[in-house]
Amino acid sequence: MARSMLQAVSTAVFGLSAISLPLANAAAVSSTATSARSQYTLPASVQYAENVIPNINDPQAVDAQSVCPGYKATNVQNSTFGLTATLSLAGTPCNLYGTDIDTLNLTVQYQTADRLSVNIVPTYVDSSNYTQYLVRDSLLAKPALDEGVSETSKFHDLSFSWSNDPTFAFTVQRRSTGDVLFTTEGSKLIFENQFLEFTSPLPDDYNIYGLGEHIHEFRLGNNFTATIFPADIANPIDYNIYGSHPFYLETRYFEVDPKTGNTSITTGNATDPSKKYESYSHGVYLRNTHAHEVLLRPNRITWRTLGGSIDLYFYAGPTQPAVTKALLKSNDALPAMQQYYTLGYQQCRWGYKGWSDVEDVASNFSKFEIPLETLWVDIDYLGQLRDFQTDPNTWSIEEGEKFLSSLHSKGQHFVPIIDSAIYIPNPDNASDAYAPFDRGNEVGAFLKNPDGSLYIGAVWPGFTVFPDWLSEGAQTWWVDEITAFHEKVSFDGIWIDMSEISSFCAGSCGSGNLHLQPVHPPFALPGEPGAVVYDYPEGFNITNATEAASASSGAASQSSAASVSATTPASTPIYRPTVTPGVRDVNHPAYVINNGQGDIANKAISPNATHIDGTQEYEMHNVWGYQILNATHNALLNIFPEKRPFIIGRSTFFGSGRWAGHWGGDNYSKWGSMYMSISQALSFSLFGIPMFGVDTCGFLGNSDEELCNRWMQLSAFFPFYRNHNTLSTIPQEPYRWGSVIESTKTAMKIRYPLLPYMYTLLHLAHSTGSTVLRALSWEFPNDPLLANVDTQLLLGPSILVIPVLEPQVSTVQGVFPGIAEGEKWYDWYTQTPVSATAGKNETIDAPLGHIPVYVRGGSVLPQQEYALTTRDARNTPYSLITALSAKGTAKGELYVDDGESVKPNATLFVEYAAENNTLTAVPQGAYVEPQPLANITVLGVPSAPLAGVTFNGVKLPSSSVAYNGTSHVLSVTGLKNYTAAGAWAHKWTLKW
Ligand code: NOJ
Repeated sequence: MARSMLQAVSTAVFGLSAISLPLANAAAVSSTATSARSQYTLPASVQYAENVIPNINDPQAVDAQSVCPGYKATNVQNSTFGLTATLSLAGTPCNLYGTDIDTLNLTVQYQTADRLSVNIVPTYVDSSNYTQYLVRDSLLAKPALDEGVSETSKFHDLSFSWSNDPTFAFTVQRRSTGDVLFTTEGSKLIFENQFLEFTSPLPDDYNIYGLGEHIHEFRLGNNFTATIFPADIANPIDYNIYGSHPFYLETRYFEVDPKTGNTSITTGNATDPSKKYESYSHGVYLRNTHAHEVLLRPNRITWRTLGGSIDLYFYAGPTQPAVTKALLKSNDALPAMQQYYTLGYQQCRWGYKGWSDVEDVASNFSKFEIPLETLWVDIDYLGQLRDFQTDPNTWSIEEGEKFLSSLHSKGQHFVPIIDSAIYIPNPDNASDAYAPFDRGNEVGAFLKNPDGSLYIGAVWPGFTVFPDWLSEGAQTWWVDEITAFHEKVSFDGIWIDMSEISSFCAGSCGSGNLHLQPVHPPFALPGEPGAVVYDYPEGFNITNATEAASASSGAASQSSAASVSATTPASTPIYRPTVTPGVRDVNHPAYVINNGQGDIANKAISPNATHIDGTQEYEMHNVWGYQILNATHNALLNIFPEKRPFIIGRSTFFGSGRWAGHWGGDNYSKWGSMYMSISQALSFSLFGIPMFGVDTCGFLGNSDEELCNRWMQLSAFFPFYRNHNTLSTIPQEPYRWGSVIESTKTAMKIRYPLLPYMYTLLHLAHSTGSTVLRALSWEFPNDPLLANVDTQLLLGPSILVIPVLEPQVSTVQGVFPGIAEGEKWYDWYTQTPVSATAGKNETIDAPLGHIPVYVRGGSVLPQQEYALTTRDARNTPYSLITALSAKGTAKGELYVDDGESVKPNATLFVEYAAENNTLTAVPQGAYVEPQPLANITVLGVPSAPLAGVTFNGVKLPSSSVAYNGTSHVLSVTGLKNYTAAGAWAHKWTLKW
């Protein structure tokens, strides 16, 4: 984000609540309201606090390593599980970006065989001077010591060592390779009340992934600053966006000496096809809720946080699945199991004006016979944009009741948005009543200013307050409001928005200004004068030259009109906060993080908003979005005690996956956004949020036929599959263009049959911490060439997708992983093996409407039939695709339950295995699946089964068996008679 875009409020009395001053005299400035709006419009200036320069861009910024003293360790005590020590400041405090803390406690634990923790906290020698928030275990789970792990280090692949020369430093090493994973040797530990820093060298061209949430290539590279601070900002490349995930996975490739079997580390992706490699992955998690910054630089990683403690966890892996599973389990972060229906297709947009609009949308889906599972509504349905009430004119409760009962009777669902901020009424207007605010206020549900008054920011409905999730009152009030609302509008899930938490003004701007309510946001909404949307995807000028020309002249006249009327913001001096030793200044932390919105008060509630226990947003901002998901989860359990809550949330913290899924936020109707969706999805696999998808066809800007065609196909392989766009842009439901109808159906005819496979993957993610969408490098860990691949993805272990990510092409380049080790890939459509060269980017035919999809040899994929809802799909017979490996083997699994219960009464797990021309299915569990098995298709059968095919020893009639000698596909049909009691009622065997 260009700093020049940020307009600053320049006032000598700046203090975050003082920002309300310009508004207190609003009557005098009400002419800023546009003629198009009847409401008072907040001035644009309220959005921004100081015009700060991030330290990483500030040539004047002092490097803490050059001036701070570091620490010395004393009193080192070895214990059964690790060690403890005291760290004391090794010289004069530098007080550079905070006040140096004199004495710290170090605790190192070999917590389990594959996890090591390093914990450094202040000893609070002078607690009156230091407020150092340590994350409460009740807020975020804390990985615990497994006391069963006796005798510590010798069983661990990770080892810890330390030195005091010249100051305290620690090293974490992998025993099996001797490789140093992390070492602070040669650097100093900086521990100030508002600034912590520790840093480690890394190998050349290292492979690091994670550190969310950002829009960035999947492999983060060595020239990136990962700021971890939730921001409401339309998906900028490389800046911090909605969530906080202070975790990274690092993969190191080693060359294996063919003679000795010894390994030596190699760099990045430099490979020699004649050599063999193997990889080791480890994970690092910093359990800290303060604003962070992780600097990835050539050969070095540096963590900086604006407070808290160093609560570090190293996960030994040595594979990605091992790291992710251990990480998620130890942090109580295994992802929520979703209801089956949530895997169906979801349609949304900002701009559906009433029940009749959504009714039209639903009937168009059925007219064009495109699956529609769930309709979503945006803030349009909210009466005066306020939570928990609908617009009585176009969204009446009565009409909604009729519509929703008809929708539900068709097996379809409904999910409304609920915003995070709560409208506060105008005290001068008796008719401006808003009971949800009154009820919340009575129980102390809202955040306060430091002086105890309500903190009042601004979001869609006008000035708003914000729940304080640390107050018991907020928790029960939220559950009660959502429950009461469900009695009026029978929704099935909830979409939580604006939860970073976003506020359109820096500071408590509503204080003293409530008489202006309801106020309009300090910017024009899409479609309002000055904000008409003229943008289209790249390539639109080729496919639609006339429309593109008219859009570009519209855009030009809009921007020239804007430049005439806009008042040029006074250029405000850059503010460089300073330190007063002993004083904690939450509004102006001296270290300025590289926040995409500039000052940390911009477009968010301010750091001094205060919780019931005295903590402030300064230390809690990163988890506000996490907490609302927890509260909403409780609300849904209150309404549907037996059903798995379905929630999609915008701001997440590591661990939110246990309550909710996530969508990728405000992306663009651009090819680049579609490409980035793959990296974002893979990152969220690492963060334990497999229920992930993005605004398909793009949110900001108009979409077009070609982009939507390709994107509807790519998103069909993401667990959360939703199309959504912004206000005033052209409609982009898939039925709007002929070719998109066809391409959508093509992709859905793969997705819907694969739902049993996808649901099984979700179940495995929920129960073991495995991933649903996978990077190629995770499934093929010994090929350094795959370390960078983020243009392709795997759905589970078995489905490879190579999407087209650019306009105006009819081929795509893709690699087929594992070929060198004999991996076989089958084309989904032709069911024949792909002929590909190891390590080569193959050119694949991909005309518009075709998404290249491949099945991995060695897989058994359970399927049901395509239908327009998941309810109907679940009521169809099963079939199996068995794709044989080069060795003629395959395996797979299926999980089945009732698709909705929190604790299903019964479950079923089926394991499939094929070898020696025999496929067996072994079921386990009491869940009764009545659907029979219809067909089995075996790919890669070298020759015709001359002795015929038997099912459980019974020879099948020749009418049930077909073998294609060209494609080598064996098709077995007519199995329903043999499985009338249910496809998985008994163990069975098929022989050919
Ligand atoms: C921001 C969300 O990211 C977007 O999806 C939504 O449409 C708007 N808020 C309006 O509610």
